[in-house]
Amino acid sequence: MEVYSEKHQIAVAINGFKAKKQTIGLVPTMGALHEGHLQLVKKALSQNDKAVVSIFVNPTQFDNKNDLKKYPRTLNQDVTLLKTISQDRILVYAPTVEDMYGGKTVSEKFDFDGLEFEMEGRFRVGHFDGVGTIVKRFFDIIKPHKAYFGEKDFQQLAIIKKLVEKYKIPVNIVGCKIHREVNGLAMSSRNTRLKPEYKKAAPFIYEILKSAKDQFGTKSAGKVMEWVEKEFSRHDLLELEYFLVADVETLKPVKRKSNKKIYRAFIAVYAGDIRLIDNIALN
Ligand code: PAF
Repeated sequence: MEVYSEKHQIAVAINGFKAKKQTIGLVPTMGALHEGHLQLVKKALSQNDKAVVSIFVNPTQFDNKNDLKKYPRTLNQDVTLLKTISQDRILVYAPTVEDMYGGKTVSEKFDFDGLEFEMEGRFRVGHFDGVGTIVKRFFDIIKPHKAYFGEKDFQQLAIIKKLVEKYKIPVNIVGCKIHREVNGLAMSSRNTRLKPEYKKAAPFIYEILKSAKDQFGTKSAGKVMEWVEKEFSRHDLLELEYFLVADVETLKPVKRKSNKKIYRAFIAVYAGDIRLIDNIALN
């Protein structure tokens, strides 16, 4: 399996595949790969000739320097895992910060029609400018036919779709279902940093989401929010940052339910110093 660290090298390899009319699926990641990522890679391989997996901990999308410093970096282990899926149809692109940013590690500024100001955008200032900057660069370098993103970062997925629409980037964005541990905890690279007591407590997040979904059938969004806040206020270990019900199109919190709209519940929780997010379809 080839592991590229320079954009010029991977661009040459990609041109070679394109000359043979082969299709490319891109799976952008920050590494510390888990089963959820592997599902994205498998999907990319089922729909394309080759899968490019980018592994890059993107500094400009971290609002918290400590989170950036502590983010797991496990390239050798990631490559070993990818080899279990395919030896010859996956390419890894693991660039350096210099290769991606050329000495100027700053984000472009984007207008995502307001999607960037909701939820994660409120709590992680500049985060989506960082994500938009790096994903746009990956699209430029790899020029994939399709690109795969998990629904765990539902807002990110919506923003990438908006990026592609606004900049008329010729790539098909494929959203993929959330992959969960047996206990319901949404898979995330950050889970490896959970201390045992928090790991044990964290499945509570999905339990709450499932119950919120049940309640949303008969109760108002406001009442469901109140209930969730109360449940977390009684929890000794997990600290709720936000829970809200939003319209999947605008990501704006719902005021009054309409049966013409599709809603999802979104949650962010601190388990010690690890921030976990999750979401669930409601109707
Ligand atoms: O979802 C992630 O891992 C990152 O935000 C992404 C899309 C790879 C951009 O750095």
